[in-house]
Amino acid sequence: PLYKSMFGLSELEEKLRKAFGLSRVIIVQGDSETSIQTKRELGRAACQVLRGALKPKDVVAVTGGTTIAQVANQLTTTTAMKDIWFVPARGGLGESLDYQANTLASTMAKRTGGHYRLLHVPDHLGEEAFASLMQEPNIREIVDVIRSARVVVHGIGDAMIMARRRKLDSEVVAEIEAEGALAEAFGFYFDRSGAVVHQMQTVGLRLEDIVNTELVIGVAGGKNKGEAIAAVMRFGHNDVLVTDEAAALEMAGLL
Ligand code: BG6
Repeated sequence: PLYKSMFGLSELEEKLRKAFGLSRVIIVQGDSETSIQTKRELGRAACQVLRGALKPKDVVAVTGGTTIAQVANQLTTTTAMKDIWFVPARGGLGESLDYQANTLASTMAKRTGGHYRLLHVPDHLGEEAFASLMQEPNIREIVDVIRSARVVVHGIGDAMIMARRRKLDSEVVAEIEAEGALAEAFGFYFDRSGAVVHQMQTVGLRLEDIVNTELVIGVAGGKNKGEAIAAVMRFGHNDVLVTDEAAALEMAGLL
């Protein structure tokens, strides 16, 4: 194990929980950036949290990404979650199909016997296209479902890596960088203190929806994501963080 101090992982969990005002922190051993086994464990731990939290008629909004894919691909239930809805947190974010929120929401529903709704709307919409899309009854309906989510499960990324992965214009990337963006989650970019410095205008969860969501579960690990995860935790609207030892040690070093 990486953690060789006199404290165990549970002490580290408690330390981070208190520092970021979370209700629960779960740390799995290792570094998910270098070990696929650890990444799988991260997903498995998040599945446990999610299973324990779900209630009948819940709407669960999920983001995309390789980490949440590990959650989706391992989610199981003993009793079918017939009346639970899985939806993407936002529109398409230019990810490859396997890691898109739509794909992961439908995987979760299929694996648990729940329902899903998809949102077929691209990101990077101009003002006009955005406004007219939001007037489409079909879109409006699913967007209202998304915004009513009681539970959000999201990944966290490094701001610059995510900006490039989403193929943002180089000007926008430079702007975001100049604003001090360190982290990205659900389409929002955060600086070190957790302030939102940039947001993409897309259909789906807005900032105020995240703020009002009852249960926000962040799932992210890897040494290099430590700073980004800490930034999103400082934003202050997460309830649960599922992370790994490598990221947790980085975060503890920033306290
Ligand atoms: C994206 C989410 O799909 O995945 C982002 O929308 C998140 O919020 C990112 O930052 C993390 O991706 P990964 O592959 O590092 O888990």
